[in-house]
Amino acid sequence: MKKLLTFIVSSALALSLAACSSQSTVMESAAAAETTEEISAETEAVTETAAETETSADTNASEETAAPEEASEEGVLAAYFSWSGNTEQMAQMIAEETGADLFEIAPAAPYTDDYDELLDIAQQEQAEDARPELAAQVENWDSYDTVFVGYPNWWSDAPMTVYTFLESYDWTGKTLIPFNTSASGGFGRSLSRIEESAAGAEILEGLDLTESELPDAQNRITEWLTGLGFSR
Ligand SMILES: Cc1cc2nc3c(=O)[nH]c(=O)nc-3n(C[C@H](O)[C@H](O)[C@H](O)COP(=O)(O)O)c2cc1C
Repeated sequence: MKKLLTFIVSSALALSLAACSSQSTVMESAAAAETTEEISAETEAVTETAAETETSADTNASEETAAPEEASEEGVLAAYFSWSGNTEQMAQMIAEETGADLFEIAPAAPYTDDYDELLDIAQQEQAEDARPELAAQVENWDSYDTVFVGYPNWWSDAPMTVYTFLESYDWTGKTLIPFNTSASGGFGRSLSRIEESAAGAEILEGLDLTESELPDAQNRITEWLTGLGFSR
């Protein structure tokens, strides 16, 4: 009887222990499951944060790439051809007042230094409607919205190299402002030819100066630029 009682008590004890242990296993599993959920929730949160960070990094990246475009809206270039320095001087005065970058339009094969020889060469190039090759190209053309284009009067026209320059670029949406120096003839017949060669450009009022006007032309240049909306 005593043995039977001992068996019953120990069996009951064993059963309750087993129940307890399986319960703790369940609880551990539940805790583990909760931890897994937490981890996966955290992972999700981290992933989302990473995605957001990536998106914001992307946004920053596109802002960064957008910045030069914004800056380019104010880009001004003063491109000029000059054989004996007068037009270059005028270009420098324009650049000082507008902050324009300077670019020299020059042929790949430089013109002779001999004035009389040059007169013949210039005349021949005009007769042939030549397009002499250029020595250099404008870097970052797209960053310029306004381009001053200056040249001397050669036989009542622009040097043919200027037309090579004009025809080398896309002028769509650009503003072109011509300027010129001469002995007395001003722009000659160049303005209508410029319009053809820079198709798509909006052409604003230009300024032409004679060689003798040039040394005292600062005020005229300032007035002209102010009239065009430039101020410094
Ligand atoms: C080949 C050549 C042709 C020229 N033809 C004319 C002309 O037809 N009419 C005029 O008024 N000046 C003419 N000139 C004078 C230039 O236009 C003037 O000296 C100009 O200011 C020179 O500019 P640069 O020093 O920038 O080269 C000619 C000069 C050269 C070299």
